[in-house]
Amino acid sequence: MRLADQANVKWLDKKPYTRNLIPGESVCWEVHRNINGIEYRYWDPNRSKLAAFLVCGGRAFPFGLKSTVLYLGAANGTTVSHISDICPGGRIFAVEVAKNPFRELLALAEKRGNIIPILEDANHPEIYDRVVGQVDVMYQDISQRNQAEIFIRNSGMLKPGGTGYLMVKARCIDVAASPVKTIGICRDELEKAGFRVLEIVKLEQYEKDHAAIVVKKAPA
Ligand SMILES: C[S@@+](CC[C@H](N)C(=O)[O-])C[C@H]1O[C@@H](n2cnc3c(N)ncnc32)[C@H](O)[C@@H]1O
Repeated sequence: MRLADQANVKWLDKKPYTRNLIPGESVCWEVHRNINGIEYRYWDPNRSKLAAFLVCGGRAFPFGLKSTVLYLGAANGTTVSHISDICPGGRIFAVEVAKNPFRELLALAEKRGNIIPILEDANHPEIYDRVVGQVDVMYQDISQRNQAEIFIRNSGMLKPGGTGYLMVKARCIDVAASPVKTIGICRDELEKAGFRVLEIVKLEQYEKDHAAIVVKKAPA
């Protein structure tokens, strides 16, 4: 059994699917499968780094039915929509800075009541931290040079003992350095900020020069 075998995640033919929160509705033309009257949506690792993390052997999966999640770099909400399937009774605070993908995210949130879209720059968490409060999981997928710094800046909203995912795009931080070295620098920054690194999973198979760093915040 994989750790990501949560009530709303199914593995069919070794591929991940999430239980559709809104049966009959597609988010990005994904394949649907009906299992015992329940509809599941294909969670494509080519379109979602969280799915790629699982398919590449990642084990940490703290998402429960009622989890609260801070998602930084939501884009149009592809991965957000799957987390919304997985945590139907929770809330996903989805931060995105660009207006075009945000419009699609907004349309998604109008259909899915557990998504709270926030049009802001994740470099400035002080603008939205009171709306978000404290969350169980923090997930960041932002292609900026200061990826680790943004993560640390937002981590005040992660509960003590909570889990964080930093999806690192190494070439975006330093185009000349080796990705392994850049990922190591990010890991060191997170450890220096007090996080315990649970695992680092290379996503190379799906995303060139990317890795997922999963960390735990110290308990209170
Ligand atoms: C790789 S895409 C995210 C894809 C998305 N996570 C998914 O899996 O569906 C990165 C997103 O981060 C956003 N972004 C970049 N800098 C940001 C910032 N400072 N604050 C918030 N979002 C930012 C970009 O506009 C872009 O939509």
